Amino acid sequence: MKQMMLILMLLLSVASTTRVYYMLDPKNNSQLLNFSGCGNTLNCNHPVVMELVLDSLRHWVKEYHIDGFRFDLASVLCRGPDGSPLDAPPLIREIAKDSVLSRCKIIAEPWDCGGLYLVGRFPNWDRWAEWNGKYRDDLRRFIKGDPGMKGVLATRVSGSADLYQVNQRKPHHGVNFIIAHDGFTLCDLVSYNLKHNDANGEGGRDGCNDNFSWNCGVEGETNDSNVLALRSRQMKNFHVALMISQGTPMMLMGDEYGHTRYGNNNSYGHDTCINNFQWGQLAERRYGHFRFFSEMIKFRQNHPILKRDRFLSKNDVTWHEDCWDNLESKFLAFTIHDHNSGGDIYLAFNAHDYSVDAVIPPAPQQKHWNRVVDTNLESPNDIAPEGVPLTGSGYRIAPFSSILLKASP
Ligand SMILES: *[C@@H]1O[C@H](CO)[C@@H](O)[C@H](O)[C@H]1NC(C)=O
Ligand SMILES: *[C@@H]1O[C@H](CO)[C@@H](O)[C@H](O)[C@H]1NC(C)=O
Ligand SMILES: *[C@@H]1O[C@H](CO)[C@@H](O)[C@H](O)[C@H]1NC(C)=O
Ligand SMILES: *[C@@H]1O[C@H](CO)[C@@H](O)[C@H](O)[C@H]1NC(C)=O
Ligand SMILES: *[C@@H]1O[C@H](CO)[C@@H](O)[C@H](O)[C@H]1NC(C)=O
Repeated sequence: MKQMMLILMLLLSVASTTRVYYMLDPKNNSQLLNFSGCGNTLNCNHPVVMELVLDSLRHWVKEYHIDGFRFDLASVLCRGPDGSPLDAPPLIREIAKDSVLSRCKIIAEPWDCGGLYLVGRFPNWDRWAEWNGKYRDDLRRFIKGDPGMKGVLATRVSGSADLYQVNQRKPHHGVNFIIAHDGFTLCDLVSYNLKHNDANGEGGRDGCNDNFSWNCGVEGETNDSNVLALRSRQMKNFHVALMISQGTPMMLMGDEYGHTRYGNNNSYGHDTCINNFQWGQLAERRYGHFRFFSEMIKFRQNHPILKRDRFLSKNDVTWHEDCWDNLESKFLAFTIHDHNSGGDIYLAFNAHDYSVDAVIPPAPQQKHWNRVVDTNLESPNDIAPEGVPLTGSGYRIAPFSSILLKASP
């Protein structure tokens, strides 16, 4: 009898613990709600669970000196006990206001597996930053050559004011990225149309999110030099766009040397060359791909006009464009102005499969244009940090290429 009581009490306490810590279907309390993709969802906005989460975060910061957090599928943190979205989720507010956590980087992946897509609308108290999923999708589509993407490209490189220019939010609250740990690597984004997740043993059923990839003509590995050259240009075009965009840029480790996962776009759990860092490839590509990627990062660091604290406005940029409505046009050129020293930066992105002759505007007074980047040129001419003086007022921009010019005395 005593034993039975004990078992009963244990079962009861397990049941009530589950009720506190996990979200349950209000119509069936034995059914866990699954917004995480893993079968259950922590009930984060319950006062007790919230304290557990906050204590853990503070512990990581105080004891381990963690700089910040990026919350996976963070929209689950915005749901109440029955899974419905909350306008002002207590946990999100507490994290924003906490005296320890307020000194950290706080970044949301603003969606979840239950379809709560909060890009640009994640509750934030002007504090939370967001992965800008629209930046990723729009950039992928423009660079691969989808029609009708010119206008959104302009919005995205200007800091996505449509998403973040509200209250005290700044361009840096938007985290721009092309690639993350989920999905294709940069190399695979330009090498595969389809996922190849055979090694996962899930019959290719796994993997979610987006699919805006283009293999440049051949699916997967190839020795075709034209295809390889096009892929190399495309990776550089993506990197140039990311490094000149207002907002906080994010890159995936390994993309700096062109890591491939052989088309696996859901590579969790592989302790193989699919995920292991390839030091040999880094060494092989140190003076080519890697050099371009690191010089472009340095260029951003050295040019504060690429990372302003406000969204680009009319005075900050001139769009060399008078037919925004032409859906067939896949070419965009613009000049970002340097009001202090006239070190303007001219950019042009050509996603057509033919060359475009661009008319370069006059450089600011007492200045002339220098070519820093032409992704169509072989290394080391693809990026020349000191710049190569431009002759004439025209520039032929190769198919699927981009250029960056800088005005210097
Ligand atoms: C409630 O959920 C449990 C667990 O999924 C399931 O076994 C049971 O059949 C459900 N009950 C009803 C009435 O749907
Ligand atoms: C949870 O949902 C995901 C889809 O988001 C699904 O793949 C998975 O099988 C579900 N897990 C369980 C245990 O129901
Ligand atoms: C993986 O690729 C497939 C297309 O083959 C796509 O449907 C799926 O959404 C992709 N998953 C990710 C995480 O990119
Ligand atoms: C990619 O997604 C689009 C839109 O969701 C769909 O029409 C297309 O068939 C998909 N392509 C692949 C290769 O999965
Ligand atoms: C590319 O060339 C290498 C060396 O000749 C060869 O080993 C490899 O199988 C080739 N790959 C493809 C996809 O043809």
